[in-house]
Amino acid sequence: MPDKKPPTPLPPLPNWAPDWQKQGQQHVWLPYAQMQNTSPPLAAQSAVGARIKLHNGEELIDGVSSWWTAAHGYNHPHINQAITDQMADFSHLMLGGFASEPAYRLATRLSEKLPGDLNHVFFTESGSVSVEVALKMAIQFFQNQGQGQKNKIISFMGGYHGDTLGTMAICDPEEGMHSMFDGVLPEQFVLPVPTDEEHQAAFKTFLNDHADSCAAIVIEPLVQGAGGFKAHSPAVLQFLRDCADEHDLMLIFDEIMTGFGRLGRYANNEDNGGDTDSLFVCGQTGVVPDIITLSKALTGGTLPLAATIATGRIFEGFMSEEPGKELMHGPTFMGNALSCAAANASLDLFEQEDRLGQVDHIAAQLDTHLSALSDLPHIADVRVMGALGVIEVDEMRALNDLKARFVEQGVWIRPFGNVIYVMPPMIISDDDLGYLLDVFVRTVTDWTAGKI
Ligand SMILES: Cc1ncc(COP(=O)(O)O)c(C=O)c1O
Repeated sequence: MPDKKPPTPLPPLPNWAPDWQKQGQQHVWLPYAQMQNTSPPLAAQSAVGARIKLHNGEELIDGVSSWWTAAHGYNHPHINQAITDQMADFSHLMLGGFASEPAYRLATRLSEKLPGDLNHVFFTESGSVSVEVALKMAIQFFQNQGQGQKNKIISFMGGYHGDTLGTMAICDPEEGMHSMFDGVLPEQFVLPVPTDEEHQAAFKTFLNDHADSCAAIVIEPLVQGAGGFKAHSPAVLQFLRDCADEHDLMLIFDEIMTGFGRLGRYANNEDNGGDTDSLFVCGQTGVVPDIITLSKALTGGTLPLAATIATGRIFEGFMSEEPGKELMHGPTFMGNALSCAAANASLDLFEQEDRLGQVDHIAAQLDTHLSALSDLPHIADVRVMGALGVIEVDEMRALNDLKARFVEQGVWIRPFGNVIYVMPPMIISDDDLGYLLDVFVRTVTDWTAGKI
């Protein structure tokens, strides 16, 4: 065998880094990272509840929920037990041929929990792929009806729907790496969110001109997450619902971040049929899409799983005696039995424990603590939406130092773009939440004063 090349120089690891990290650093390619200078990740030892223990024995209180997934905290015994029990039977069997109880029960329960006629569940393994499937469902639905010209997608500035080529094309053009992949991505219509009369008029004009070539409108309802946690009102969703109905477009809600109670009752609208117990924006606002995508907290952040759930109208649009009308998608690990068992256990916890009450409580604490920051220099906006608190700054600087300062004080906060945000596991104790928010406020205050 030819000699291996000498290792590429990478940023130094802390002296407490374990051997496996020292050896593996050359081989693990990190997400969204300039590998030449990105701060190396912290070697983790274990995680329980809202705390992550590092290899040097220190503990961090988690303010990110592992990219917004760990609703019930880490290492929850009920989810662990469900995975262990399922493993004793089998971990995975191909869904194209074998029905597994966890997948079938989960599809039934998700359908029961979602509003309206969202009853047909297609499983995948990641959020991006669940959005790809939603787009394919909408486009192929119209193709199957002989309307193949309806194949473009309308999405919104500030939106984020994933990193695959199809989803990148419907992300915000600047944030979403459009320029990097110019000429490769399919051309879609990425428009401003129609938040006011002027934009709504422009949106209607756009539809009058282009809806005939479009299959769907896709939006992260109420809060656009990775694009900077920008919020809009439930009225915007109702406006989009009305437009979609008028022009026969599929309305797709990407609830990968907002779903499973993260926003709590922040935008409940009982007058519109909203349900105060719903775990989803569509349920709380009473604005029901034709397709919804879910992932992240679906398994309580334990195992990869995503779902694309469509209405009966869409499902029936694929029924045919003719070949080529079936939905052409089928990931190898779709409906993985362990992931589905974890998701069922996560749903048990949402049913048995008062997660929405916990979100209300976290929201109140966020309001109290973060309001102190709104008058400070360089703070453009402070907003709290359920168990999500966001500080938007006029311009981000000293990002790595800011991250490091949080860690030094024993909390895990990961600012990006021009936002510093906190999204803790819903089960976080009062003491941990108090500490997390004290550190958050103190550190942001220091940052605004140029001390970081
Ligand atoms: C709203 C939304 N859609 C899609 C995705 C992509 O999900 P995944 O990273 O699982 O592919 C994300 C991930 O952050 C998201 O927030």
